[in-house]
Amino acid sequence: MSDTDERDTLLAAARAAREHSHAPHSRFRVGAAVRSSSGRIFGGCNVESASYGLGACAERVAVLKAVSEGERELQAIAIVTDADTPTPPCGACRQILWEFCGDVEVILATTAGQVETHQLSSLFPKPFASSRR
Ligand code: THU
Repeated sequence: MSDTDERDTLLAAARAAREHSHAPHSRFRVGAAVRSSSGRIFGGCNVESASYGLGACAERVAVLKAVSEGERELQAIAIVTDADTPTPPCGACRQILWEFCGDVEVILATTAGQVETHQLSSLFPKPFASSRR
C-alpha cells in the first residue's frame, strides 16, 4: 500500500470512530485511529462524562485500545474533527502518544477535507521520560 493509501485508510478509520463520539457537553466530536506495526488499526473517539473531568480524549482511547490488545509499536495516528482547521492533540495526549508511539507521523484532518501532517517531535519537542527506565 502506498503512503497516501495508508494515510487515507487511517483517516477513514478516524472518521468512522468519530461517528461514535459521545460529546453531549462540549459538542466537539473527535475521532482518532492508530496503526500498529502489525498492521492493525484501532479507532477511538472522545467520551465525555457528566462529571466533566472524567471524560477521555479520542487519541488516548485509540492508543489505550491498541496497547490493551497487546500492541506496543504504533506507527501513525490520524485525528479528525469538524473544526475550521485541523486540530492538534492536547498536551496530555501528546505525552501518551510519545510514550507509546515515539516520533510518529500525526495526520490531522477536518471533516471538510483539509489535511496536514506533523512529526510528533515537532508538536512535542521536550517530552518527559522517566529516568527510572
Ligand atoms: N478532545 C479530544 O478528544 N482530543 C484532544 O486532543 C483534545 C480534546 C476532546 C475532549 C472533549 O471531549 C472535547 O474534545 C472538548 O475538549
